[in-house]
Amino acid sequence: MFEHYKMTEKDKKSNFSLKVFVILLVWIISVYAAITFIRSSDEPPCKSESLPVRHKGVCKSPECITLAHQLHNWRDVSVDPCENFFKAACGKYNEHNLDPETRFNTKTGIVARLIEEFLDKNLPSTSNSENAMHFLYQKCQESNKLNATVIAEQEAMSQLELIRRIGSAPIFERNWNESDFNLNDMMAGIAELGRDQLGFFQFTVINQYLVISRDPIQSEDLATGIKKILNETLRLTDEKPDADQIGRDIQDVMKLNKELQEPNTNISGAIHLSTLQEHISLDLTRIIKSRFDPRRKEEVWRRIQNKTVVLIDALYYSNGKKNLETILQSSSNRTLVNYLMIRFLISLEKQKTSGKDDCTGKVVIKLPLAALRMFARNHFDKENLQIASDMVEDVIESFVETIQESSWLHETTKQRAIKKVKNMKKVIGYPKELEAPGTLDRFFESLNLSDINMTYFETKIEIERFRTIQSMNHFATLFPFESNDRYVVANAFYHPTLNKLSEYSSQFSK
Ligand SMILES: *[C@@H]1O[C@H](CO)[C@@H](O)[C@H](O)[C@H]1NC(C)=O
Ligand SMILES: *[C@@H]1O[C@H](CO)[C@@H](O)[C@H](O)[C@H]1NC(C)=O
Ligand SMILES: *[C@@H]1O[C@H](CO)[C@@H](O)[C@H](O)[C@H]1NC(C)=O
Ligand SMILES: *[C@@H]1O[C@H](CO)[C@@H](O)[C@H](O)[C@H]1NC(C)=O
Ligand SMILES: *[C@@H]1O[C@H](CO)[C@@H](O)[C@H](O)[C@H]1NC(C)=O
Ligand SMILES: *[C@@H]1O[C@H](CO)[C@@H](O)[C@H](O)[C@H]1NC(C)=O
Ligand SMILES: *[C@@H]1O[C@H](CO)[C@@H](O)[C@H](O)[C@H]1NC(C)=O
Ligand SMILES: *[C@@H]1O[C@H](CO)[C@@H](O)[C@H](O)[C@H]1NC(C)=O
Repeated sequence: MFEHYKMTEKDKKSNFSLKVFVILLVWIISVYAAITFIRSSDEPPCKSESLPVRHKGVCKSPECITLAHQLHNWRDVSVDPCENFFKAACGKYNEHNLDPETRFNTKTGIVARLIEEFLDKNLPSTSNSENAMHFLYQKCQESNKLNATVIAEQEAMSQLELIRRIGSAPIFERNWNESDFNLNDMMAGIAELGRDQLGFFQFTVINQYLVISRDPIQSEDLATGIKKILNETLRLTDEKPDADQIGRDIQDVMKLNKELQEPNTNISGAIHLSTLQEHISLDLTRIIKSRFDPRRKEEVWRRIQNKTVVLIDALYYSNGKKNLETILQSSSNRTLVNYLMIRFLISLEKQKTSGKDDCTGKVVIKLPLAALRMFARNHFDKENLQIASDMVEDVIESFVETIQESSWLHETTKQRAIKKVKNMKKVIGYPKELEAPGTLDRFFESLNLSDINMTYFETKIEIERFRTIQSMNHFATLFPFESNDRYVVANAFYHPTLNKLSEYSSQFSK
């Protein structure tokens, strides 16, 4: 179990991988450090002398050989280290690690391999978060076996199901019944699926605020999106309206969008949600609450209602001549529904699959905290943390020694390098809160992967819903972690500007 930190036979092996990992890590950092000071120095850092090469021990275990092989491959032997040390040492790193689809790969190759090993084993687990990782991984692998036609077909079916779940829209259904229509119900339904973008406005967490702002889209992108979605879904239903009606509906949607995208240049600033609520027929409070953890709805609301603001730009259009309420009132229900539904479906486009996915990468990016917990559990016991920390110290020490003894660096460069390495801060480990047993699993209860027949697309949408819930819990300070993959790229980062080996890089986002 997670709460047990005693070393088992299995852990000893991973403890070894950890050591190798840390050594590798520090090695990379050293190279970085070297480059950084070399770059900041005006004089050429190398003297034209040959490098002394010392062989200390030879590695024999499979793990070590694998890693050694990797390091070996990262070198670019065609480059003279005195010309360009970085290129010589790791010039081929990108070639071996860069998958243009996932930036993740370039940074966390080693962590990824450990996580992949875990995912491939697929041992039964009582942990919600581990099971979620396995579920997503399996759905991804299943999807990779399908051809594009079949995947597109599945995604179109899910799309149609979602349309019906939220309440349908006349552009997709001839028998749409206007008396069933309720804009608040529909928007709450979309918000319940964790969507940030609701067409008429969107949600973003900025610093200490939940901000409601405009949800912009270019006319051309809207037109393309409409065409694609209609083409995908209308083939699957016998209830479609006739072509003329669809044409008129599209025109109305485009016209409404034009109004909603009109600039507002002379009114700016932000107001409190409660101030706005008096002037608008949308039930904003209900819509916002729909994005919360159902188990903690009132608690979250109590904590964040005073931190929810609306940008005035989201309310006033056409330089204050119109506002959101007058636009809603002057549009037909038919057009409002069509617009909302289409914007919802366009917001899901990002979850669609194109080509083969890197399944481990997807798991880490979509379930970063689960991945981190797994990694912490299997590869970071407390003893290891100390070992890792000691090892970094050792390696830093020997790096300083190496610099001091080197004959190929100028004296000033040497001194700078040593200063820099000695000042390097290290942060090894993971968020301490992860140590409390069950902390993460308790928050995974709101992720619903109970239907084994879910498609990969549906699984990704459910995980997005779950992540919105988590992010609101975090914003309300009920949940200590930010659902962000930077925790996992963790342990592999050196910040050149901060001279800090840290838990995370700030380059990654959801
Ligand atoms: C895709 O797979 C399905 C089912 O396996 C098959 O019927 C279909 O011919 C394939 N399509 C293409 C373009 O390969
Ligand atoms: C629309 O729904 C209402 C109640 O939900 C029903 O009374 C009415 O007959 C329906 N109209 C049509 C055309 O189906
Ligand atoms: C739009 O729908 C609402 C709620 O169902 C209804 O009260 C209103 O009369 C409808 N508007 C129009 C123009 O039909
Ligand atoms: C509609 O989809 C089919 C494949 O399902 C595709 O061949 C066709 O080009 C699409 N049409 C448009 C207008 O996108
Ligand atoms: C929110 O603000 C109102 C007045 O602006 C205040 O009375 C209330 O105590 C605040 N609530 C919280 C939870 O801070
Ligand atoms: C904004 O500018 C428009 C003209 O461009 C003007 O009619 C309107 O009164 C202005 N609104 C405010 C609040 O200044
Ligand atoms: C989980 O999802 C299934 C459908 O996929 C649904 O039937 C079930 O009610 C959901 N459970 C919860 C607790 O929301
Ligand atoms: C999943 O699909 C299988 C085969 O199509 C079906 O027998 C089973 O009832 C489905 N399970 C659920 C939970 O829908």
